[in-house]
Parts: sequence; C-alpha cells; structure tokens
Amino acid sequence: MPNPAESPPTIEAAPAPPAPPALSGLIKALIVVAASASLVLALLLLGASHSDPYTQATLDLVGSESNGGRLFRLNCAGCHGLAAQGLVGPNLHGVSHRKNDRQLIQQVVSGRTPPMPRFQPEPQAMADLLAFLHSLPS
Ligand code: HEC
Repeated sequence: MPNPAESPPTIEAAPAPPAPPALSGLIKALIVVAASASLVLALLLLGASHSDPYTQATLDLVGSESNGGRLFRLNCAGCHGLAAQGLVGPNLHGVSHRKNDRQLIQQVVSGRTPPMPRFQPEPQAMADLLAFLHSLPS
C-alpha cells in the first residue's frame, strides 16, 4: 500500500491559468470593431433620413441620358453652352466628379446660386438630367 504523503501532486491541484492577454486583447478589439460598425450604420441611416422625398424619388429612378440631353438643350444650354462647355454659367464637364448627385439636384432645384434660376423638374426629368450630367466628359 503506497503512502499517500509520497504520491506526486496531482495536476488538479494546479490553479487554472488566467486567460492569455492576447485573447482578451482580441476580445476588446472585436468589441471596438462592433461598436464602430454600429456607429457607422447609425450615421448612414441618419444621413438617408435627411434626404428629402423629392431627392429620394429622383435617386430611385433610372435616368435617360438622351432625354436629359434634350432637357439640357432646352433649359440649360443658354447659360452653360450647347456642349456644356460653359458660357454665362460654368463649364459642366466632369461636374459629377466634383459634386455628388444630392448636390447636383440641390444645384438645379434650390435657386441658391443666382443667376441660375430655380428649376422644378419632375423627379423623372431630374433623373434624366443627372444621367446627362454623368455622361459629360471630364
Ligand atoms: C441663367 C443662367 C443659367 C441657367 C439657365 C442654368 N444655369 Fe446652371 N449655373 C449658372 C451659374 C451662373 C452657375 C454658377 C453658380 C455659382 O456657383 O455661383 C451655375 C452652376 C451650375 C452647376 C454647378 C457647377 C459646378 O461646377 O459646381 C450645375 C451642375 C448646373 N449649373 C447645372 C445646370 C442645369 C442642369 C441647368 C438646367 C436645368 C442649369 N444649370 C441652368 C447659370 C445657369
């Protein structure tokens, strides 16, 4: 019969090692990533809700570049030139790289920059104008 006092210490006696720091660091990083992802999402939703119904309706439509060109020659070419090369109003080549669609819509409907008048196109006509502005060379 072996003497219990002489038996080697059992492994159960060893305290459980604490979680390695690398792992808890990873968990913290994941929490930070999840938190920033939800912040970005919240900001995106906030931004979308700021867009007015007219702008949203326009952006939801697919524009016709050729009809946009027709509308441009009728309403805009007098100031911006038949080829949108600039006259009284500035050259619009590459304007869709300088301004996003919401800004372009505002430019057309707001009348905030006289002498450019305030236009009130139907959303489809505005979508067509946008398609035309996008088609201009940069
Ligand atoms: C009476 C002249 C006039 C008419 C008509 C006119 N514009 Fe303009 N437009 C201007 C002037 C002037 C500016 C510059 C305004 C400013 O920024 O001070 C401008 C600016 C713009 C800009 C911004 C250019 C940039 O580089 O940021 C866009 C886009 C534009 N017009 C599109 C149109 C469209 C589309 C139409 C027709 C629906 C139109 N404009 C009709 C005079 C006109």
